[in-house]
This record gives sequence, C-alpha cells and structure tokens, in this order.
Amino acid sequence: MKRIGLLTSGGDCQALNATMRGVVKALANNLEELEVYGFINGYRGMIYGDYRLLTSKDFSGILTKGGTILGSSRTPFKEIRDPDEKGLNKVEAMKQNYYKLRLDCLVVLGGNGSQKTANLLSEEGLNVIHLPKTIDNDIWGTDMTFGFYSAVNIATEAIDCIHTTAASHNRVFIVEVMGHKVGWLTLYAGIAGGADVILIPEIPYHIDKVLKAIDARTKAGKGFTVLAVAEGAVCADDLKLSKKEYKKKMEAKNYPSVAYELADQILAKSGNEVRITVPGHTQRGGAPCPYDRALSTRLGAAAAMAILDEDYGNMIAIINNKTKRVPLKETAGKLKVVEKKNQFVEEAKALGISFGD
Ligand code: F6P
Repeated sequence: MKRIGLLTSGGDCQALNATMRGVVKALANNLEELEVYGFINGYRGMIYGDYRLLTSKDFSGILTKGGTILGSSRTPFKEIRDPDEKGLNKVEAMKQNYYKLRLDCLVVLGGNGSQKTANLLSEEGLNVIHLPKTIDNDIWGTDMTFGFYSAVNIATEAIDCIHTTAASHNRVFIVEVMGHKVGWLTLYAGIAGGADVILIPEIPYHIDKVLKAIDARTKAGKGFTVLAVAEGAVCADDLKLSKKEYKKKMEAKNYPSVAYELADQILAKSGNEVRITVPGHTQRGGAPCPYDRALSTRLGAAAAMAILDEDYGNMIAIINNKTKRVPLKETAGKLKVVEKKNQFVEEAKALGISFGD
C-alpha cells in the first residue's frame, strides 16, 4: 500500500498529464493498493489543503491531453518562507497536510523554482520526487525536460509560417520565442525553421552585426530575413544597465519586449520595415508531441520505480537516453544555459546563421 501526493507547479507545459499518468499507471501495476491525492493548483493546494482523491479513471485518456488536470500556479520560492497575508507558515502548512494525508511520497512536476521548493521540503524531511517539466529545457542535471520538444514544434511552425509571408513581401521578420533566461527553445526552433539570425540571452547581440547579416542577404539577392529572437535576448549595449534601468528604458520607449527594441534599432539604422510575431503561450499549449509523450511516460514510470524502491530526494532525469535519479541537493538552484562554445551554436554558425556576435 502506498499513498502519494501529486502536484503540478509553475508555468504549465505539454505532457504534464502524460507524466502523471506514467507515474500512476506504473505504481498501480506494481501495487495491491494505491491512493493518489492530487493537490489543486500546485503548492498552493498543498499549503491550503486543497486536494482531491484521484482514481485510475482520472488518469485514463490523458496521455495526449495538454495542460494539467490538477491546475497549476506560481508559488515563488523566494517567498515560500514568508508567512502568507494571514500569517500562515506555508512550509509548515505543507508539512502538516503531507502528514495529515499520511503520504509516503510527494511527486512534484515543476521547473526550476518548483524544484527549489521540492528540495526544501525534502530537507524538511518529506519524501519527495521531482519530475523536470518546462518548455525552457533549463533544468540542470537532465538532458531534456518534458514539454520542450512540443514547444519547439510550435515555435518552428510559427517560423515556417512567417517564412512564406516574409518571402512574398521582402521584409524583415522577427519571431520572438519563449525560454525565459535561456536560449534552448530559440536555438532549436531557429535552426529547425531555417532562421537567418538567432539571438539568445547567452550571446548578447550587437546591432551592427545583426544589420550586417540582413545586408548580406539583401546583397545576395534575398529580399527577406527571418530572425528568431529569444524573449530573454539582450543587446550588448544594454548589458551595462542594471535590471531596474533596463526595465525603465523599455517602459519609457513603450517596448513590450526585446523584439520591439530590436525592430526599432533595425528601422532606425537601416530603414528596413520590420514585422514582429510573438507566438507567446501557444508554445505551451495543445497536445504533447510524440517525443514528449514517450519521454514523460518513461520519466513517470522511472519515478514510480524510485517510489517502489523508497529512494527519495531525487529528480528523475534523462541522461544519454537513460533515466537517472539525480539528488535534488545537487541540481536545485542551478540553471542549464546554452554554452557559447556549444556544438549546436558552432554548427549553426558554420551554416552562416548569425548570432549577432
Ligand atoms: O517557464 C516557462 C515560461 O513559458 C517561460 O518560457 C516564460 O518566460 C514564462 O514561462 C512565462 O510565464 P507566465 O506564464 O507566468 O507569463
């Protein structure tokens, strides 16, 4: 007999349901008795005792379903030790609900911030397993996060669609891709979509280098240029600004995001008309792609095996195509960024793709 708690925390992504299904299916297949409690809207449900006893029916038919059957919310790690507005100690409240339900283990599906809270709960003595979700693929200690490839598909499709219209109109187009502070999503989608320029946070761009790339295409008789720009991309000139100064500058110029700053820079310096497309949250939506379904099902089954072994305090990672238990204390708080010397970047540069550096 095992009692497990499940929650999905932070920004959602594809394959959250597929992962939970994997955990529960593998546990149910190996245990006489299983009770699964789903906390509603992430850690918030665990803090305020908002949960549901789930049955195998809840996990049936959800392999391909986007979103999360449990709901999600952001519960910032940096505020987790602060009492809530009514003075409630959130960490103690989560522990109490865990003990009240007599859970054997809490399974957390979340990104970087949620992983830090998972680690904290593990340090506080709870049995915790973390499963790496995010379209950003920025979790240190795993080659891949589930959700990433589904988002790559959507961002690539956006770039593909822009390509045809860009070609008809001889224009410069920017597709702004999600990814928070890292460039994995833009890098993959940019290459898959045949972008001419790829700008990522890890490689600050110089506007003159971007203009040079556009100009080279014009001179080669190609009337249009497609730029895949990460939402976290940054102009080298802006690096000297503090976070506050940068925010102030963007607000003063009415730039909702970096794509708008870049478009203005291109127009001002070259007279080129620029159009911007921001696929935004569509990148997190819809059904998981087959790769994510397979990955998340494997991770879910591997999490179940760790629960059966009573081996807790780990993230279930995928490394060299093998699932692995990585101690939370080793991975929590670390970010997996695109190294400047990443082979992928070097190969893209070999193709003539400009990174604006
Ligand atoms: O972490 C996933 C992500 O989609 C990032 O790529 C993006 O920066 C962020 O979440 C958006 O967050 P929100 O949904 O809170 O606007």
